[in-house]
Amino acid sequence: MQREQWNSRVGFILAAVGSAIGLGNIWRFPYMAYENGGGAFFIPYLFAMISAGIPFMIMEFSLGHKLRGAAPKVFAKLGQSYGLRLEWLGWFQVFIAAIIAIYYVAIIGWAISFLGFSFTQSWGADTNAFFFKEYLQLEDNSPTRLGQFQLHIAIPMAIAWSITSLAIFTGVRGGIERASKIMMPLLFIMVLTLIGRIIMLPGALEGLNYLFEPDFSRIFDAKVWSAAYGQIFFTLSVGFAIMLAYSSYLPEKSDISNNAFMTVLINCGFSIMSGIMIFAVLGYMAQEQGKELTEVVSSGVGLAFVTIPAAINLLPLPYIFGPLFFLALVVAGLSSHISIIEAVTSAVMDKLNLARKKATLLVCGTGFLASMAFATNGGLLLLDLVDYFINNVALLFSCFVELIILAWLFKIADIRDYANRLSEFTLGRWFDLCLRFVSPAMLAIILVKNLINTVTDGYGGYPIEDQLILGWGLIATMLVISLIINLFTSDKEDVL
Ligand code: PHE
Ligand code: NA
Repeated sequence: MQREQWNSRVGFILAAVGSAIGLGNIWRFPYMAYENGGGAFFIPYLFAMISAGIPFMIMEFSLGHKLRGAAPKVFAKLGQSYGLRLEWLGWFQVFIAAIIAIYYVAIIGWAISFLGFSFTQSWGADTNAFFFKEYLQLEDNSPTRLGQFQLHIAIPMAIAWSITSLAIFTGVRGGIERASKIMMPLLFIMVLTLIGRIIMLPGALEGLNYLFEPDFSRIFDAKVWSAAYGQIFFTLSVGFAIMLAYSSYLPEKSDISNNAFMTVLINCGFSIMSGIMIFAVLGYMAQEQGKELTEVVSSGVGLAFVTIPAAINLLPLPYIFGPLFFLALVVAGLSSHISIIEAVTSAVMDKLNLARKKATLLVCGTGFLASMAFATNGGLLLLDLVDYFINNVALLFSCFVELIILAWLFKIADIRDYANRLSEFTLGRWFDLCLRFVSPAMLAIILVKNLINTVTDGYGGYPIEDQLILGWGLIATMLVISLIINLFTSDKEDVL
C-alpha cells in the first residue's frame, strides 16, 4: 500500500505548526520569559532555538522523510543498517505521546467548558473557587484517590476526542491537513485581534514593560539557560514521535531545511505574540485592581482558568474577549492533540499492518477510555503529577538518547548531506557541532539536574507512593514494554 502524502507544502507546514503551537506557547512561554530575565531571556531562548530546536527539527524531518515510517519503524530501520535493535526507542516515544494525549485532552475539555461559560461569564466573581471547587469539584483528593466520575468534564472531553478522531480517521490530506488549514489561520487571526484591542487598554503597555524589560544580570544564571533549553523541545514537539510521523508523509521532493526553519520560526513567533497578549491583559488587570503586576502574574492552569477569567470580568465587551480567548486555547490544543494521536496511530498502523480507520478506532477508543481517569474530582492532581514526570524526566531522556544515538553512533554528517541534497540552502558544519556537542551537553545537564531534584525533593508534595507509581513506575513500565516489543520483533519483521 502506498504511504499517504501531504497535498501541499503549505499544508505540511501548517500541520507541523499546528502541532508545535499548543497550550505551552500560550500559558508557559510568557511566564517563563517573565521569570527568567524578561527581554534578556530572548538571548538564551534564541540560542536554544538555533543550536537545538532547528537542527533537531531538520534531523527529524530528514529521518521521517528518508525512512518513511512512524517512530518505531524509523528507529528500527536506522538500527538495522548498523546491526542494532533500536525499535524500543520509537515505542518509548510513542508511549510518551500516548500518555500526553490522554491528559492533554482533559485540558482541552476544560477549555471547551470555559468557552461555554465565557459567553456570560458564568464563572462569577471568585474565579478561583469557581474553577477548583465548582467546576473540577476538587476535594480532599490525591493523584490516586480520584473520587467520582464527573460527567460535566467527560462531555467536553468527548467533544475534543470526536474532533481529533474525525481528523485522524479521515486521513493525512482530507483530515489533518484540512483541519490545520482551517485552524492555524483562524488561530493567528484570533490572537492578533485580541492583541490589537487589548493593547489599547490602560495598563497594557506597563504589562509589556514587565515582560520585555531586560534583566541582563540573569544571562549568567545557569537556571535561565536550562529553562530555555527545557522549553524548546516541548514547544517544538520534537523527540516524541510526532514530527517523525508527520514528515514520513512528505513527498519525495521536499525542502527539508526550509520547512524546518519555517516551522520553528512560526512557533517561536507565536510564543512572542502570546506573551504580548497575556502580559497586556495582566497589565490591564493590575491597573484596574490597583495592584502590582507581580501580584497577578501566573502561568499554566491557574493562568488560563483562574486569572484570565478574572481579567475577562473586568474587560469592556467581555462576551467577545472571553470566547475569543478560549476558542484560541481550544484550537491551539486540538491541533496539537491531533498530532500526538497521529504519532500513535501511525505507529500502530505500521506495526500491526492495520488500515487507518481501524487503527484510529483502536487508538482513539483506548485513549478515550483511559482519559476518563481525568474526568474525576482528583483529575487535575493526576494530570499535574504525570505531566511533571513525563516532561521533566521521560521527554528529556528520550531526546537525549535520540541525540546520542544519532550524533554519536551514526554519522550526523550523513543526515546533513541528506537534508542538503533536498534543500535550497546548504547547512554548514554548525549543524553537526550543535547536535553532537551543544545540545547533548545542555540536555545532559538539565536531565541530571531534574533527576537529582526529583529524587531528593519529589514533586509537588504528593504522597510518595503516588510519585513512585505514577511517576517513576509509569516511566519504567513504558521503558520495559518498549524493550519487550523490541525483543519480540524478529529482524525479518524489521525490514517491513
Ligand atoms: N508543542 C506543544 C506546546 O507547546 C506541546 C505538545 C504538542 C504537547 C503536541 C503534546 C503534543 O504546547
Ligand atoms: Na509550541
